[in-house]
Amino acid sequence: MQRSKIAGIGYYVPDHVYTNNDLARFMDTDDAWIQERTGIKERRFADRMGETTTTMGIEAAKIAIGRAGITPQDVDFIIFATLSPDYYFPGCGVLLQREMKMREIGALDIRNQCSGFVYALSVADQFIRTGMYKNVLVVGSEKHSFAMDFETRSRNVSVIFGDGAGAVVLQPAMEEGQGILSTHLHSDGAEAELLAMYYPGSHANKWLEGKPGFPNQELGGLFLTPEQLEQGAALPYMDGPAVFKKAVVKFPEVIKEALSANDLSPADIDLLVPHQANLRISQYVQQLLGLRDAQVFNNIQKYGNTTAASVPIALCEAWEAGLINDGDLVCLAAFGSGFTWGSALIRW
Ligand code: UT7
Repeated sequence: MQRSKIAGIGYYVPDHVYTNNDLARFMDTDDAWIQERTGIKERRFADRMGETTTTMGIEAAKIAIGRAGITPQDVDFIIFATLSPDYYFPGCGVLLQREMKMREIGALDIRNQCSGFVYALSVADQFIRTGMYKNVLVVGSEKHSFAMDFETRSRNVSVIFGDGAGAVVLQPAMEEGQGILSTHLHSDGAEAELLAMYYPGSHANKWLEGKPGFPNQELGGLFLTPEQLEQGAALPYMDGPAVFKKAVVKFPEVIKEALSANDLSPADIDLLVPHQANLRISQYVQQLLGLRDAQVFNNIQKYGNTTAASVPIALCEAWEAGLINDGDLVCLAAFGSGFTWGSALIRW
């Protein structure tokens, strides 16, 4: 079967740098705590009015498309992964299609949070493998800064996340043995609420039922009420320690699954590019798999956790730094809200 390869890659991070000390101006936190618990030193935040998840995605896409040697009009399909879309609907894919003046091609948005890029890559890979498309654009982009709460009550979430975007163009691989060898996707919704944003949403409204402010009408009015907004219901929630415990099990598991599916072992990996959730998670995974420092790429120190953008940003930085060369075995892995997790093994 025809394999796909990454023919072009790009990333974009906004100019505004916020150090840990900058965040300490808004909430009760400090540089030492953030660095010790997460490894993060600083992150980028998008221009509040001038940049959106889509515009950042476009900047990354332009670079990826240029490096693939094609034009926006050559793209056959768009897959856009984000949890912080410009609009609740429609998704960012169509906004990118419009701004980049692409043909009337299909555009699919993926809502798999931190695993979004690996899921998107896997979907794109299937389209190339079946011969349906020749150029698939995959984008991961996030503008967390717009929706996060910078008060002490949300400090366990808001010190972690940053903004940015990454993109790749997948094309059919021409050389024998080259390209995406396999992708592996998983989910377990049993603990979906441990890392989630509950509102706006269409689920039964447990938050307000029976309380003043519960809409006194037969239909509608429950998607997002003013009371919910006031109580902070439309903010991301994360049980950090529970997510951490699950992540350190599922990361190594899905990496081993990818290796064993291809008859390979951890020693064969030239570069592991894990989703940048927490430096301690990456170090733990490295230790469990017995990988050397040079086999694992981390850049969370500079950008924080950029969710769907973190894998393509890290992959692109590693590639630009000359850490990935033709023939190298690159492993991507991610874990996040859902829970969802996945891996991809690539012969560059
Ligand atoms: O991207 C995919 C999904 N996300 C993840 O993979 C994240 C996984 N989880 C984590 O990375 C970590 O759990 C966190 C970094 C979120 C939190 O680190 P932790 O070591 O698990 O801390 P904790 O939540 O257990 O909190 C320990 C203490 C608490 O104080 P008390 O109750 O012990 O007095 C928190 O209130 O640290 C406090 N704390 C903070 N202190 C200063 C929480 N956030 C902060 C903060 N600054 N920003």
